[in-house]
Amino acid sequence: MDSIVVTGNGPLNGQIPIAGAKNACLTLMPATLLSDEPLTLTNAPRLSDIAMMGTLLQSLGAEVAQMQGGKVLALSSHALDTHVAEYDIVRKMRASILVLGPMLARDGHAIVSLPGGCAIGARPVDLHLRALEAMGAELDLRDGYVHAKASGGLRGGTFEFPIVSVGATENALMAATLAKGTTVLKNAAREPEIADLARCLRKMGAQIEGEETGTITVQGVDRLGGATHAVVPDRIELGTYMIAPAICGGAVECLGGRIELVQAFCDALDRAGIAVEETEGGLTVTRGDTPVRAVDVVTAPFPGFPTDLQAQMMALMCTAEGTSVLEERIFENRFMHAPELMRMGAQIDVQGGTATVTGVDRLRGAPVMATDLRASVSLILAGLAAEGETTVHRVYHLDRGYESVEQKLRNVGAKIERISGQ
Ligand code: UD1
Repeated sequence: MDSIVVTGNGPLNGQIPIAGAKNACLTLMPATLLSDEPLTLTNAPRLSDIAMMGTLLQSLGAEVAQMQGGKVLALSSHALDTHVAEYDIVRKMRASILVLGPMLARDGHAIVSLPGGCAIGARPVDLHLRALEAMGAELDLRDGYVHAKASGGLRGGTFEFPIVSVGATENALMAATLAKGTTVLKNAAREPEIADLARCLRKMGAQIEGEETGTITVQGVDRLGGATHAVVPDRIELGTYMIAPAICGGAVECLGGRIELVQAFCDALDRAGIAVEETEGGLTVTRGDTPVRAVDVVTAPFPGFPTDLQAQMMALMCTAEGTSVLEERIFENRFMHAPELMRMGAQIDVQGGTATVTGVDRLRGAPVMATDLRASVSLILAGLAAEGETTVHRVYHLDRGYESVEQKLRNVGAKIERISGQ
């Protein structure tokens, strides 16, 4: 397993290009299962999770071709070889469950293993299943698999999500495009990845309204066609690289960044005394000579502060002036980076879903362990600002969600290298 070694090296300056969103791409790819015509995705990120989704789609009989070094994905699924998504692939990535809705909607049956993914809490899929049941799906959970049937096809229905779920909204939205009649999804997720999926599905011929309002109305159509669609920029990669100059000093322009993707996060940076400026190419973050102020953060569904930026924000708060309280309201076990940051000298007290961080003058480099995707990158950010050398072990998580992280950070002056096989 690879490790990453980071050495604190002063301010960062320059530009970092932001890739297409992993989480958007992971839901756009299974949308190919809704149509027998080609779906071409441009601005795809080059990540192991994307390759994994490609492998899953291929295992079902879809064609997946990578062009331009993986930036363009040509997908096509005229006829499927099987409707069984096997445990061996699905267990490695939770987003695999997103093949369920499309297969069921198009062909009336699907068998999908229950998924795995990052170890950040129990993460059930009950809402995915209940939303599909509201469209007439008959479901049976046997031997770790969901056996789904919709004899005669799915039909429109109304479903109100008891809590906001990004993945369940995506699964239900895709399924609803081919259901007979009207589907209304209430308390639906409003994340930019949902809006991106809706835009792509509309290009394929779907009739969807309200995807940014929390109530999505879908008028089912008989068939969907092909489309070409550019994946929305990755707001989590964007937020992550916006923290880099905030924590180290300097000024970094994140190319392709858009404020509406990260408004709540920018508000928090603003309260912390970090300036964010819109430029022609994206967003520039500048940290002046003044210390960062401690700010409180509560994670919430979009447009709230994203749970996927909580770990990176905690890294920033470790050396802020004062005490900050970070409340995690989306996942119950998402502070695994806290004890690792404490190895570096951070002062953090975790009580249930609340972490209280008391800023220290300086973090010290230390060997640390990456426990999930966003935790990994928070340790790298902390290492960039620490005195001495930090070795982040088990960085395979990182490769699931960050394209060329070492190169992107090196280009703005960071001292970072990957050591293979440690
Ligand atoms: C997606 C993102 C992930 C992000 C999360 C929240 C992808 C591939 N992943 O994950 O990076 O952290 O949104 O913004 O897009 N829940 C249930 N039952 C369900 C589904 C979810 O109880 O059937 C719960 C979860 O345990 C969690 C909450 O709902 O507490 C939100 O999860 P959800 O929005 O579904 O996250 P994902 O779609 O898995």
